[in-house]
Amino acid sequence: MQINAKNVQNITLLAIESSCDDTAASIICNAKIVSNVIANQDIHQQYGGVVPELASRAHQKNIVPVVDMALKQANVSLDAIDGIAYTQGPGLLGSLLVGSSFAKGLALALNKPLVAVNHLEAHVLSLLIDSPDTPFPYLCLLVSGGHTEIVKVNSPSSMEILGRTIDDAAGEAFDKVAKILGLPYPGGPLIDSNAKNGDPHCFSFPSGKVPNLDFSFSGFKTAVLYFIKDAVKKDATFVEQNLSNICASVQQNIITYLLSKLKQAALQTKIKHIAIAGGVSANLGLRTEFLKMAKDQSWTTYIPKLEYCTDNAAMIAMAAHFKFLDHNMASLGDGSFASFDR
Ligand code: KG4
Ligand code: ZN
Repeated sequence: MQINAKNVQNITLLAIESSCDDTAASIICNAKIVSNVIANQDIHQQYGGVVPELASRAHQKNIVPVVDMALKQANVSLDAIDGIAYTQGPGLLGSLLVGSSFAKGLALALNKPLVAVNHLEAHVLSLLIDSPDTPFPYLCLLVSGGHTEIVKVNSPSSMEILGRTIDDAAGEAFDKVAKILGLPYPGGPLIDSNAKNGDPHCFSFPSGKVPNLDFSFSGFKTAVLYFIKDAVKKDATFVEQNLSNICASVQQNIITYLLSKLKQAALQTKIKHIAIAGGVSANLGLRTEFLKMAKDQSWTTYIPKLEYCTDNAAMIAMAAHFKFLDHNMASLGDGSFASFDR
């Protein structure tokens, strides 16, 4: 049987995501998302990044109301749920423990099956929520706060990483540059909005030189840091005066670098069905340039809706749906926390 989001029996799943600083729950019925609730944690803004201890405490506080709301919005009772899915990793250990323990407790109490989902696989499958007919294999540029990879997706259960960052992730590059510019965490969306009014070719920075389909962002980040330090020494108001142009130039550099590697991967594999996913795929500049490149290269493109780019439980639900169809259940005793290397 061809595995396809449309090949559906009557399956209703509750999915929980708690890998970082968003507490999220979603209900999926017959491969359709019927609710998708997220509680963000603003507390980290003042610290310039996610504080793990605060994140797990906030998950603990938010998880019951978020799950309740997801059930209410879907008009589904706990009895009607066929299985409970949770994010197994990668992520912050304390945050993952809240979601996985909650899901296991619920599964035990209700005597329902458990499904453990890899967070990165879920990002890569998120585009199937709205494009269930996406043919396999497709290539996915996965760009998030913790990961940057080019993935060949052979099926929902078979993926190959063709290239990955050897240091920082693209989202981290956005966030660290934003911090240098004095913008609050997470800086990616703020660089995106400031870039709209700037000249993307005003300043240029070197891109990471690594072979094949791998990425590196640490040299770029350091180059931006020293460029800003020097400029501010000469003129204390430099950042203030040039914020839009700096953001546009930084963003352009990251986008050009990401897309050049994606194009290389498409040429090497001869795959023309190409997707982007993960938090950075919400970036307007990336979405626009990706579509331009797709036109030049005759690609068919798949881009998740904005609400499915950054962390959410709908993508966990979508990935869980396929695992449930495959009878790939987790056990209550499973204490492992997934990476993307398995
Ligand atoms: O996928 P995600 O929500 O969490 C992880 O799995 O890491 O990605 C979060 C990352 C952050 O680094 C954030 O700054 C970045 O995605 N991000 C963006 C935008 N929206 C979120 N980066 C650039 N432009 C955006 N519009
Ligand atoms: Zn994520």
